[in-house]
Amino acid sequence: MKRKSLMAGNWKMHTTAIEARSLAADIARKCPETTDREVLLAPPFTVLREVAEVLSRTDVILASQNVCWEEKGAFTGEISPVMLKDCGVSSAIIGHSERRQIFHEDNALINKRVLGALSFDLMAILCIGETEEEQENGKTFAVLEAQVRQGLQGVEPQQMEKMVIAYEPVWAIGTGKTATKEQAQEVHLSIRRLIEKIYEKNIADRLRILYGGSVKPANVDELMSQPDIDGALVGGAALDAESFGRIINFI
Ligand code: 13P
Repeated sequence: MKRKSLMAGNWKMHTTAIEARSLAADIARKCPETTDREVLLAPPFTVLREVAEVLSRTDVILASQNVCWEEKGAFTGEISPVMLKDCGVSSAIIGHSERRQIFHEDNALINKRVLGALSFDLMAILCIGETEEEQENGKTFAVLEAQVRQGLQGVEPQQMEKMVIAYEPVWAIGTGKTATKEQAQEVHLSIRRLIEKIYEKNIADRLRILYGGSVKPANVDELMSQPDIDGALVGGAALDAESFGRIINFI
């Protein structure tokens, strides 16, 4: 099953409006012509409109780094799916390990965000990943299974078209340590098998599973050569147009 690759840049808490415009424009110029892949940018909320404008005549997908489940109301500090769509956003990253670890978002809360995003027709990128300690204690798959099962609670089979899973081992984020291509492939395959168990083979075959954690120009080609790695979620290297340009043009 050939899935379209998804190459995503998560800018995290970086860029002022001027920086965001120029970074988005530089990246847009480097987007490959090929139809086998999509490029996605997730800037901070404050520059979504600027980036949307820069990307308006491109195929680059605009994503947010989080999303609330309610349309409006007393949710101080949150941003609703409707507000995001109003800024040109069509996708949302949900449950990033920084949200889980620093802001204590748990699987139940993340599940609400997933359901909220899908109900407003946003593509939802559910991030999962084990910590170093969990990995060392052999708990990787148990942790991922709980994150997937609870994160997808109540997601209907037909909504899986709009779901993406990003596997980001916490020990590989921003550390320069990448999972080897074999390690990542093994985990991705086990996630796909789990999805087959929860849903069905056809859904599992179509689901895109991204890898994240120190993806760089030097390792993107070998990661992307793996059969179950369908894209990358890139942090640090996505802030540099030269590096991200090379990543989205993986061979
Ligand atoms: P780095 O690419 O900086 O390791 O970050 C990965 C990440 O968290 C992307 O969401």
